[in-house]
This record gives sequence, structure tokens and C-alpha cells, in this order.
Amino acid sequence: MIRCMATDARGGTNPISQFPSDFLWGVSTSAHQIEGAADEREPSVWDAFTAEPGRVKDGSTAAVACDHYHRYPEDVALLRDLGVGAYRFSISWPRVQSPGGLDFYDRLVDELATAGVRPVPTLFHWDLPLSVETEGGWLRRETAERFAEYAAVVAERLGDRIGKWITLNEPAEHTLFGHALGTHAPGKQLMFDALPAAHHQLLAHGLAVRALRAAGVTDIGIANSHGPTWPASDEAADVEAAGFYDVLLNRLFADPLLLGQYPEGLGELMPGDVDADLKVIAEPLDWYGINYYAPTRVGAPQGTDIEFGGFTLPAELPFSVREIEGYPVTDFGWPVIPEGLTELLTSFRDRYGDRLPPIVITENGCSYEGIDDQERIAFLDGHLRALHRALEAGVDVRGYFVWSLLDNFEWAEGYARRFGLVHVDYDTLERTPKASYGWLRDALRTQP
Ligand code: NOJ
Repeated sequence: MIRCMATDARGGTNPISQFPSDFLWGVSTSAHQIEGAADEREPSVWDAFTAEPGRVKDGSTAAVACDHYHRYPEDVALLRDLGVGAYRFSISWPRVQSPGGLDFYDRLVDELATAGVRPVPTLFHWDLPLSVETEGGWLRRETAERFAEYAAVVAERLGDRIGKWITLNEPAEHTLFGHALGTHAPGKQLMFDALPAAHHQLLAHGLAVRALRAAGVTDIGIANSHGPTWPASDEAADVEAAGFYDVLLNRLFADPLLLGQYPEGLGELMPGDVDADLKVIAEPLDWYGINYYAPTRVGAPQGTDIEFGGFTLPAELPFSVREIEGYPVTDFGWPVIPEGLTELLTSFRDRYGDRLPPIVITENGCSYEGIDDQERIAFLDGHLRALHRALEAGVDVRGYFVWSLLDNFEWAEGYARRFGLVHVDYDTLERTPKASYGWLRDALRTQP
């Protein structure tokens, strides 16, 4: 293998493996986390949720966030100077429903084209219009149909200038945190009665794929979160609990999409004509997006609530999440385990075989304070090596997107977690590229 040397931020040298010449390099953001300009669109479930005291740790809202809505030319210039080939952002459904809302994305897409950066929009990154939630949100089947209509409207307007399309972002987290545990908007605590929200998001995805294709769009994927599940021990109760967790995280969404079926026992819990819906859900994908952060160690329930990675997992769950010791952790407390990415990708390929389309890593990143963010450089360096090992092992990965371009509104954590390659001063909204931004820019220059 050819290796190139890039100068890293410390002035040292850093061997970066060569990825294929058509490998897509990008960074990701989402509308609610960066746009601000909340008063220039309809409200979303997140506006309502953050207005409730105690929902967001620092009491903040995303009303202004990074003010990307008004500062997007500056942010596109940052993308251009970084040298990425693609930018993953999300389109705010509430903004599209508001007068002139699509004009913003029109301008953004044109600005990206001028900068030579391919737009990769996500149609839903958790900010459901409040008006749609009021009618029942994801617990209601009609929301899936409304989503497909919205997808068609966006495709009609932007379809001629888009690179890749992403239907949904992390429906697993949106189901778990938003509908089962209530720590994210819309704040429902339905536990396993939240499963219809999973089914309707999957149906929304399938209907949107059809609507996008009918509008002449190609190159469609989805962004699902996945990570290896490590049993806490070899004890049968731990292995069983870990297996259950693995089904929820790694198969509940992937099996219907890739195999056209739910994991055993789950289809019966879903609403409607599930067999007919599965045919829609399994509409072939052009590629499959994976958001990877870390593996999870899982054991049998411990009979108590568990504080984990910023969340409280209630005692009633049929599993418990344990600390993974022996690895560095990010400021969020998440363990840094690059080899988990290689393990995930090879096991995914082994599980789904030729049903798995090419993979794109649609998110990978870490939260650290500071502008001289050497830890983020080490994180990205380690994960790019781990990714390259997966390619060497024959996994068909076509792209990698860092979460995130900018520090931003990290949901229930507010602004306390900084995932950006670029620092944002929330008082002045000034952007300052961090050391990791320079490191990535130099690394990308070594690529074919
Ligand atoms: C996944 C989500 O898609 C994104 O919105 C979030 O900020 C990152 N993970 C980090 O938690």
C-alpha cells in the first residue's frame, strides 16, 4: 500500500493511507443544530421541547444556534478551504413548509456548487414540524405519506443540483430518545409502545425513496447509527441482554431495509399491513449510510436506572449499559475505540452479504473543548486508519463524513458538547478553525 506523509498540526508527520480516487470526503451538520433563524420558519418539535424547563441541560435553545441561516456563505467558504468534496446538511421540513423556506436551500446549494462541494441533504434530522406532531407525529401512519410529499417538493426544486440524498437520520435514536425514553423531542415516554414510530419512519423512508425516484432523483441512501455490541461477560444473561440490544441498534432498521423483514418477534408489534409495508421499506438503496461513534458494552438488567453518556436508561429496560474501561474517553464520556469501526463494518458485510449496497460513513466524530484539539486529531487519525483496514478487508466503503463542521446545538446537552472542526463563539458567532481543521485539510491534500 502506498502511504503519503502529511504535515500535522503539531508540525510532525502523519502517514495517511491512500483511499480510492473516487472516495467521497465530507463533513456533516443538521438544520436544527446550526441554522438558527427559528423565527423565520414554522416551529418544530424541538422548539417546543426546548421551551420546556429542564429539557436541555444548559437551558439553551437553538433559536440562534450558529446562525448558519444568515452566515452560510462564510460556512461554505470554510468547506471549500477544507477541501472536502461533499457537505452533508439537513433540510428543515418546518422551514420548507414556511413561505420562502426552500429559497434558503436553493441559495445554499448554489453556493456549494460555486465552491465545488457536492450537496448531500438529509430530509429528516429529527425536527418534525410541530403541526405534524400535533396531528400524531410518527405514531400516525399519515406522517409517512406527508413525508413523501415533502420529499417530492424538495426534489422538484433542488433535484438538478444534488449529489447524494439521505432520507432519514438515525431513526433508532429518534425512536429511542424521542419516543421511548423522552429525553429528546417530542419527549414521549412510551417504552416499547414507541415501536410504531420506528415502523412509520421506515415506511416514510420507503415512500420517500419512491417519490424521489419518481421525481428523477438517483443516488439515495439513509443514515443509520450502528456500533458493535459487546456483552458484559460470557454469562448467559449478559449475552442474551447484549443480543437484544444488538437487535434494537443494529437490526431493527437495517433488516427491514436490506432484507425486507423485521428481526424475529418484532414484526408482530408493528401497526398496519406490515408485509405490504415491508415491500415499500425494502425499496433498493443506492448506498447505506452509517453513523459510528463507539461500541456499547451491554449486560443483564441491574434493577436500577443507569446514567450513561448523558442519558438516563430506566431500570425497566431488559438490558443495562456498562462502562467500557481501558480506553480514552471524549468530553462526553464516550470511549474512543477506532477498531470498533473496523469490527462494525466487517460484521455488517458478513451479516448482509450481497444485500448490502456500498457503505458511506455519514457521521464520525467526537466532542472536545479547545481550539488546539489534539485529541480530535488523534480520534480522526485512528478512525481513518480503522476505516482503511475495513477497505483492505474488502468492505465496499465509498465515503467518510466527519461530524461536524461547526460546534453546534447538541440536543439535550445544549451547547456544552463541541463536535466541530471549527470553533463557534456563541456570543459573537465568530468561527475559528481548530487544529483538527488544519490537520484534515492537510490530510485531504495527500489523497488522490
Ligand atoms: C448523531 C446525530 O445524528 C447528531 O445530530 C449528533 O449531534 C451526533 N450524533 C453527536 O451526538
